[in-house]
Amino acid sequence: MNLILLGAPGAGKGTQAFKLAEKYNLPHISTGDIFRQNIHDKTQLGIIAKSYIDRGQLVPDDITIEIVKERISRADCANGYMLDGFPRTVAQAEALEQIGAEHFVIDIEIPFERLLHRLTGRRVCEKCNESYHVDFLGDNRTCHCGGKLIHRADDTEQTVTDRINVYHAKTEPLIEFYAKRGKLISIKGDKGVDEVFAEITQKLEQYDLR
Ligand code: AP5
Ligand code: MG
Ligand code: ZN
Repeated sequence: MNLILLGAPGAGKGTQAFKLAEKYNLPHISTGDIFRQNIHDKTQLGIIAKSYIDRGQLVPDDITIEIVKERISRADCANGYMLDGFPRTVAQAEALEQIGAEHFVIDIEIPFERLLHRLTGRRVCEKCNESYHVDFLGDNRTCHCGGKLIHRADDTEQTVTDRINVYHAKTEPLIEFYAKRGKLISIKGDKGVDEVFAEITQKLEQYDLR
């Protein structure tokens, strides 16, 4: 099955994607993680992506679409994949539709006033990209994989605010786009991580997607 995780910055896409990838044995494709890896490696793509990400803006559609098309054409995606953070514009969604594969869309909804706290307190593993929150970390600053936990450069109050505005303008219209096509599974994201996960898997199994 091919899954899309939709939701505002901080809704919990990455957190749930980790768990879903494990349960359903799907490659986890996060466009944000791909861009950050390229920024870290100082590639040409990384230099371009950084100039947008640092301002909370979206990387241009043509670049992003190309990357995802190439990634999902690889052998490990033959039996399905999970997209985290793509598509996030109508143009990206239309490009994905042209590929012809069927996608199911999980929209994680969360009240906007919760997002700032989630993101400014987030710590991410620099090795495997798993997300944590300082509220639950205690003194621990190491991922279960041994990687160091870092603060993402775009998780400042100002950039988070810009990202949320971009979400409203460019990504929120996708909820209607997919609802019209009967593909949307809406999940309340304002619950514990395991409760959100249980609700997603329950709904997926209801749709008998496997
Ligand atoms: P990306 O990396 O995708 O960032 P984002 O969409 O802003 O989403 P986040 O990763 O910030 O949030 P998340 O929903 O994954 O939340 P998480 O699970 O970590 O994109 C970054 C940038 O790259 C974009 O701004 C853009 O510039 C560019 N980009 C990426 N894709 C693009 C595209 N398709 N087109 C153009 N540009 C693109 O959780 C957040 C925090 O909350 C964590 O601390 C976590 O521990 C905690 N948390 C999660 N769930 C719960 C819960 N249930 N209860 C309590 N705490 C929770
Ligand atoms: Mg994420
Ligand atoms: Zn890790």
